[in-house]
Amino acid sequence: MEVIIVPAAQDVGSAAARIISRLVAGKHGAVLGLATGASVKPVYAELVRAKLDFSRVTTFNLDEYVGSASFHEFMEEHLLKHVNADRARVHFPPTEGADLAGACEQFERDIRAAGGIDLQLLGIGRDGHLGFNEPTSSLASRTRIKTLTGATREANRAAFGGGEVPLHVVTMGIGTILDARQCLLVADGAAKADAVARMVEGPLTAMVPASALQLHPRATVIVDELAAAKLALRDYYREVQRNKPEWQR
Ligand code: GLP
Repeated sequence: MEVIIVPAAQDVGSAAARIISRLVAGKHGAVLGLATGASVKPVYAELVRAKLDFSRVTTFNLDEYVGSASFHEFMEEHLLKHVNADRARVHFPPTEGADLAGACEQFERDIRAAGGIDLQLLGIGRDGHLGFNEPTSSLASRTRIKTLTGATREANRAAFGGGEVPLHVVTMGIGTILDARQCLLVADGAAKADAVARMVEGPLTAMVPASALQLHPRATVIVDELAAAKLALRDYYREVQRNKPEWQR
């Protein structure tokens, strides 16, 4: 896992946006896996500011509440309406219909038909969840319906104006996420420091779903100083970045 430590949340956004922009500029018809949440807002703000050309980009969102379009609205507000996205190439997990399980399988087929995800953008939950894969999610899971923990519903309550947060969600599985050719996780703030340390340096365990990124050959984690505070090897990660050879940049 590559760990990049930057001073503040704003710098997390610009460092992540740089990686995404380079991919999109260098690959005609890039496929991006996108995420929602406070951590990715600065990333999208940078992409909008840079006027990145989205006309050929295909996107697949990571997760959504069952019976809701909340993350759909988030994406419109923070990214899609500000860039030249081709809506025919924008995909969200299914959240309605009599055969939701079948629709989840179709979502997986759609990802494969698009050629697979080139880069999956991710945040991390305070409990170490990835997407909405809560602790004890199978590390081989695919897109499916999940039940949120009380803690996650509490953490996400603000997005529902303080009201009820849906209990059920549809999320890409951890197996789905690991299939992406590159994973890019962003986190900032002291509230994420424990989860970040457990993801990067803790044992691989379904109790910390994000620790599954230890299995990925190309996972990059960008964190600010506050979120990096509990990493035992943080000085080493800084040294690696300082001495990164030109060809690896
Ligand atoms: C939600 C999302 C995750 C996100 C996490 C962190 O639960 N489903 O994909 O990574 O929250 O969100 P935030 O960035 O707002 O802390």
